[in-house]
Amino acid sequence: MALRHNVLLFLCILPFANALYKQWIPDTNFENATNWDKGSVPCGNDQVVFLAQRKVSVYVETAHTITGMSLPVDGELILASGAGFTVREGGDPGCGSGVTAHFKDPESRKWFDPSLWVAATTIDDLHRGTYQFSVHEESVPCQYDDVVFREGTSFRVDVSSDHDMPVKSVSVLGKKFTSSSEFSQYLSSNSGKLQFHGSSSLKVGGSSCDDSTGCICDNSGNRDRICSNVKCDSLECKKPLHPVGHCCDVCGAVVNVQFSSSFNFELYRQRLQHLFLSQHKYESIQMALSKVSKEQRLLRVIPFGATQEIQVLLLDQKTGQDAGKLAEALARDVVQDVHNHGLNIGISSAEFQASSGASSSEAAGNSAGVVVGAVLGSLLGVGLLAAVVMLYRRGIVTIPRMPSIPSLSKWKNSSEIGELGGPLDHGFDNPMFDKLTMMPEEPGLYGTEMINSITLTQSGVHFVNPVYDETDFNA
Ligand SMILES: *[C@@H]1O[C@H](CO)[C@@H](O)[C@H](O)[C@H]1NC(C)=O
Repeated sequence: MALRHNVLLFLCILPFANALYKQWIPDTNFENATNWDKGSVPCGNDQVVFLAQRKVSVYVETAHTITGMSLPVDGELILASGAGFTVREGGDPGCGSGVTAHFKDPESRKWFDPSLWVAATTIDDLHRGTYQFSVHEESVPCQYDDVVFREGTSFRVDVSSDHDMPVKSVSVLGKKFTSSSEFSQYLSSNSGKLQFHGSSSLKVGGSSCDDSTGCICDNSGNRDRICSNVKCDSLECKKPLHPVGHCCDVCGAVVNVQFSSSFNFELYRQRLQHLFLSQHKYESIQMALSKVSKEQRLLRVIPFGATQEIQVLLLDQKTGQDAGKLAEALARDVVQDVHNHGLNIGISSAEFQASSGASSSEAAGNSAGVVVGAVLGSLLGVGLLAAVVMLYRRGIVTIPRMPSIPSLSKWKNSSEIGELGGPLDHGFDNPMFDKLTMMPEEPGLYGTEMINSITLTQSGVHFVNPVYDETDFNA
């Protein structure tokens, strides 16, 4: 145990496992043209309308000239320094004849919609736009992830859920929350209530993923919610695959990798990236790497425990005849790499399945061994039977009554239930990663007053209506 501990401490310096930064894509910024019904940001001759009944928190980055503004009964404008509104006398020559611009309703954007998140290994990658592709269940935040709402943006997200939603941290407006009490406090603030809505048990302050072989995301409890936001394409390949954690069947290839304790999830991701995905011929391929729990079954029926393995999902963007072909070629390369170098990188074996119907179990190398084994096995069986028959005839062996065998359908049922949640390796808490990362408060971001009306100050407009100051948020 002491040794294991040392190894883990040492590994702390290496990039950690499959915990990711997950960043929410949509915003409710005044300057984002997609937030306006006319498709452009209102200018000097325009009238600005926020729907009266809609709760919204709008971030304003710069100064604007408009003709007028109707505000919602409950909402806020967060003004960056230098931002504000002026009414121009005599019109704005660059603005056309003037329209009434409505701010679009952000109400329906859901936390569990996989298309509304991007993921990256580091904050730098997030800023650079170097994103990771994931299966649907892992496209939304997982328990070990850091959730980021972009600095300089506000948003409104529906966090409705029937299950716990643990995450490691949540960053809002440049402030990172790592403790659950601090975050609950934020949720009950005016901005918090406008930004997060719906009843949920979103909890920050979860542990980091301290297992260098990777951690299981475990969003399977929210699978139905996640998949209800996903529309699956119709497929043209022969044998579509069902990757663990994905809402849709796919054309492509899946490599299943058996690892040992010296395996490092993040290093393996980088290896595949550098060895293969950076090759010109593979540049269109999307790769999703996850640690998954797989039910082990005797004779494919009787469950006898679960093992963890690494699932490498490979998708090409091809359709029709070619769907999945390129992914299959890459899968063969990945399996070949394991045959050549597996021992050095903590991988004991790997096999692939492709949507063309091909798989590594029919690969040439193995078949000779399988045939020899089968022949030996049947010879042994015949020999054993002969011996038993002889002993029986001599009265040495009596045939016992057969114990009743449980029906196969029963076995199958219980194995299906087991498949939903195998044992998880939660690792152990690492105090190094539990420190609060306090970010400096940004003065001037909010109107500091909490006055029950619209206030205009140097730093901004702030309006709070106490009548509507109720929340549907059970934090
Ligand atoms: C504007 O909003 C859309 C959708 O909400 C988002 O995809 C886009 O990144 C935003 N644009 C900017 C410049 O932030």
